[in-house]
Amino acid sequence: MKSKILEYLQDTESDYLSGQAMSQMLGVSRAAIWKVIHQLREEGYEIEAVPRKGYHLIHQPDRLSPDCLAPYLLPENSIQPLIHFATISSTNDYAKSIALESSEGTIIIADEQTKGRGRRGRNWHSPANKNIYLSMILKPDLPIHQVPMFTQLAAAAVWEALSTALPQLSIKWPNDLLYEGRKICGILTEMSGEMHALHYLVIGIGINVNTTQEDFPEDLQTIASSMRIETGRELSRQQLAAQVIERLTFHYNQVIKTGSFETILDICRTHSSLLGETINIHTRDSVQPARAIQIDSEGRLVVDTKSGLQHLSSGEVSIRKA
Ligand code: BTN
Repeated sequence: MKSKILEYLQDTESDYLSGQAMSQMLGVSRAAIWKVIHQLREEGYEIEAVPRKGYHLIHQPDRLSPDCLAPYLLPENSIQPLIHFATISSTNDYAKSIALESSEGTIIIADEQTKGRGRRGRNWHSPANKNIYLSMILKPDLPIHQVPMFTQLAAAAVWEALSTALPQLSIKWPNDLLYEGRKICGILTEMSGEMHALHYLVIGIGINVNTTQEDFPEDLQTIASSMRIETGRELSRQQLAAQVIERLTFHYNQVIKTGSFETILDICRTHSSLLGETINIHTRDSVQPARAIQIDSEGRLVVDTKSGLQHLSSGEVSIRKA
């Protein structure tokens, strides 16, 4: 009922909606409506109440809770389990702790992380109420060698969700989304499985939405950016999170239905920041110059090096533009 009332208030925008009208639409008492309005105010919603006119939503808190996301989610995504934390150590860590007993498609989302993790043991800067920190639990019945493709799937889904606001966004194989060379989004895919059986996958996505330049620690200021910095305006985290969930779920279902990753690989190829570029391939103890040629049908980066063509897997290397 709460999310319905919220939807009504959001739809009425500048107008007023009477308690009477809402009680009729929902078939509940006016006292019940009042109780929910009270609850919403406690959660930070500013709702004006004018005698004989009704209620008017003045301001809503920018939270990523199921109630706040509900108005933006498609009906098919609203039934997906969504677990929200105002603050948590890491959505990936939590997702892994519940993955075995959770149904696939479960989403963990947080307004803040105190121990956000990036690739290669790095931290992921996760200030409160600015960005999106999201993890999705998946259990595809596919061989382990296809796991890296799910990072590509997430990159393609996030690109689609964010590119209306940032059309110049690019995908840096395998797991970053960049704007003019600075990182807007990072993806951390983790898995549990044995040689031939994948138990679960957790795809963790961090998106810098409303971080300001000053919010970033000094060491990140030149390499990271946010949608707000690049567009010059604050964006709705709720709307963006709902779009990410929708695109992720859509592409995942397509891959499971068709068995083909071609659609998402094409998105990664079309918007790649690396293809056609001269790059340096960093391994633990070497740096090798190369030219990025293609992303192959297995999601590997095809590079032209002085010793010939190589197909790089995402776990093995780190790529920098030359
Ligand atoms: C990277 O670029 O190194 C990957 C960053 C991944 C960050 C996200 S935020 C949500 C999820 N929880 C985590 O602790 N990490 C991922």
